[in-house]
Amino acid sequence: MRKPLIAGNWKMHGRRSTVRSLIEAIKQEAKHFQHVDMAVFPSFVHLPEVEALLSNTPIAWGAQNLYLGENGAFTGEVSGPMLADYGCRYVLIGHSERRTIFQENLELIALKFQAAQAAGLKPILCIGETLAERQSQQTEEKIAIQLESVITKAGINAFHQAIIAYEPVWAIGTGLTATPEQAQDVHAFIRQIFMQHNHEIGSTMPILYGGSVKPDNAEGLFAMPDIDGALVGGASLEAKSFLGICEKISFVC
Ligand code: 13P
Repeated sequence: MRKPLIAGNWKMHGRRSTVRSLIEAIKQEAKHFQHVDMAVFPSFVHLPEVEALLSNTPIAWGAQNLYLGENGAFTGEVSGPMLADYGCRYVLIGHSERRTIFQENLELIALKFQAAQAAGLKPILCIGETLAERQSQQTEEKIAIQLESVITKAGINAFHQAIIAYEPVWAIGTGLTATPEQAQDVHAFIRQIFMQHNHEIGSTMPILYGGSVKPDNAEGLFAMPDIDGALVGGASLEAKSFLGICEKISFVC
């Protein structure tokens, strides 16, 4: 049995006051969602605020990125141990915005995945195809390359402590969601890749869907057998829609 996870990726949004009100509103309702793991991913600067507000609650938090190593001359970067120091449980690795806007390549992403684990953080490895790749039937090839590059570097056993988020690039922030069937097909393909390496890892791996998830499309996605939750962008910035998505998964599990 895989416990569902709803993760809110706040991206580069929020101020101290809005972070506080959003967290307070989510916290108040958390007791209704005991069958769901909930986590938020604020910007680095909001981590102290989030840690103070969420310590001793069931809601976890994580970071959107990290850099390699523990300390060093890397101006502007934040290391895994720094994130662990602020109570982060998770870190997003390889989000499509990092891959495209910040040119993170397969090698760097695999190293970041390892850096996360070295710091005791659980990586949420984000993968997904572009619209052009989908239209030219390259979705599976692209997904396999993104996964195998990390499996080769980190070893399959590293995935005992990892989560996958399938986020088709064409569905992120566009209002275009993959249909439940489109998402399920890719999730099943991802699970099969892990199964081929290690049956237990394949069957227990949480695989989240991300890309314009909203309360009104979440139920259909969560009804799919290989969709174990969501990585939510825009709809996680308001308590009502974030909680609305959490509510949908409670009903189907
Ligand atoms: P949206 O939900 O805004 O499409 O963002 C998805 C995403 O990128 C989450 O990491």
